[in-house]
Amino acid sequence: MNTHLLTVLGHDGSPLSAEARELLGRAALVVGGARHLAAVPIPASARTVVMGELRTALDAIDADLEKDRNVVVVASGDPGFFGIVRALRERGHRPRVLPALSSVAQAFARAGLPWDDALVVSAHGRELRRAVNACRAHPKVAVLTAPGAGPAALARELFPQTPRTFVVCENLGGPDERVVHVRPAEASTRPWRDPNVVLVLDPRRQTGERGWVAGARPGPSGWALPDAAFGPGPLGTFAEVRALVLARLGPSVGDMVWDVGAGAGEVAIECARFGAAAVAVERDLASCERIRGNVRAHRVKVAVSRGTAPAVLDHLPEPDAVFVGGGGPEVARACAARALRGVVAVLRESGRVRAAEAALKKESLVTGVVRLDAAPFGANESEPVFVVWGERNAATPGGGRTGPSGRTVVTIRQRPSGEGSVL
Ligand SMILES: C[S@@+](CC[C@H](N)C(=O)[O-])C[C@H]1O[C@@H](n2cnc3c(N)ncnc32)[C@H](O)[C@@H]1O
Repeated sequence: MNTHLLTVLGHDGSPLSAEARELLGRAALVVGGARHLAAVPIPASARTVVMGELRTALDAIDADLEKDRNVVVVASGDPGFFGIVRALRERGHRPRVLPALSSVAQAFARAGLPWDDALVVSAHGRELRRAVNACRAHPKVAVLTAPGAGPAALARELFPQTPRTFVVCENLGGPDERVVHVRPAEASTRPWRDPNVVLVLDPRRQTGERGWVAGARPGPSGWALPDAAFGPGPLGTFAEVRALVLARLGPSVGDMVWDVGAGAGEVAIECARFGAAAVAVERDLASCERIRGNVRAHRVKVAVSRGTAPAVLDHLPEPDAVFVGGGGPEVARACAARALRGVVAVLRESGRVRAAEAALKKESLVTGVVRLDAAPFGANESEPVFVVWGERNAATPGGGRTGPSGRTVVTIRQRPSGEGSVL
């Protein structure tokens, strides 16, 4: 491929540089969205291809480059950031890139906020639910949207459980730019114009902490925390067991994890420390208070949903992974039916292991069981526990992240009044 013939020009609404004008003036082919093609000067001799289907546009670019013609691709903001540069590199091109300001940088500038501590997620051609989970777990998130996955859809998922403010930034740098500060309740019903970026902010933590790494916090400095980190009182999982449970759950940014029969909430809290959105499901009122205290002490976001499984699960957002700390095979099976990735259960009696495993298998999970016998060195006796897990095999039809076979993944927004809390 003749690399120097291909230029990618970022466009943010500001006047083009002399270099950009010169490159456009020499172009035989100019490719871009209709809005971008209308905004830049294109020589009468140049052909244009409106960027619709990506592969068609890439084929047109290839064809002209093979004939040694100059090609300019005009794209929004910084084309190296969630943009066309990746696709061009994947085709073997080495384009010259003249970036403009990213819409994310512009959006935070309009809000007058620092953004080195912000998480940037894209719902553009991707699952909205992962962006929503990131907004549940993090206080400052910029969401790149797409038609149908914009401010209204985002607000419908977050409202009313997740108190946030939105800064909706429409057509940044364009003639009809509009920046609106709005509550999710209002955002869910208003019409919005594309393109837009949405800043989803926790009103209590807008300035954020001064850090050394941009974007998502790296994983926690430690996990399988000492049992004492969850205050006095019994725990469902002690540290060594929790280490295996966390390894099997694999919580990360964009995930939703349920901790069913949460006890002190230690599994949900540890998942939240990894950046996942987490819900602790617990029927006992005093335990719910204990969970809330532990959540505050660890300074993470965990929703507490008070109720009895499996009924209470109907009202929760779709989980990637579920920890079952309490309840019988019926609860394990209900969790397995909803889990996109897998379920982990801890049992104290070996006689219950086969029933739990069978429940997971009925929902097409691939299962494993281990007996764990850990105790402080020198202790006279230990009580083994049995960790049972089931994973949805990504190779099976309908497996992996897209949901169990035949099921449409939906997020249920409303829960019965009196139950549940802030997500
Ligand atoms: C494929 S991403 C491209 C991001 C781009 N590379 C950037 O740096 O801004 C497309 C998304 O970027 C956002 N976006 C791009 N241009 C925008 C603009 N002028 N105003 C608001 N949002 C914009 C929208 O969320 C849009 O759906």
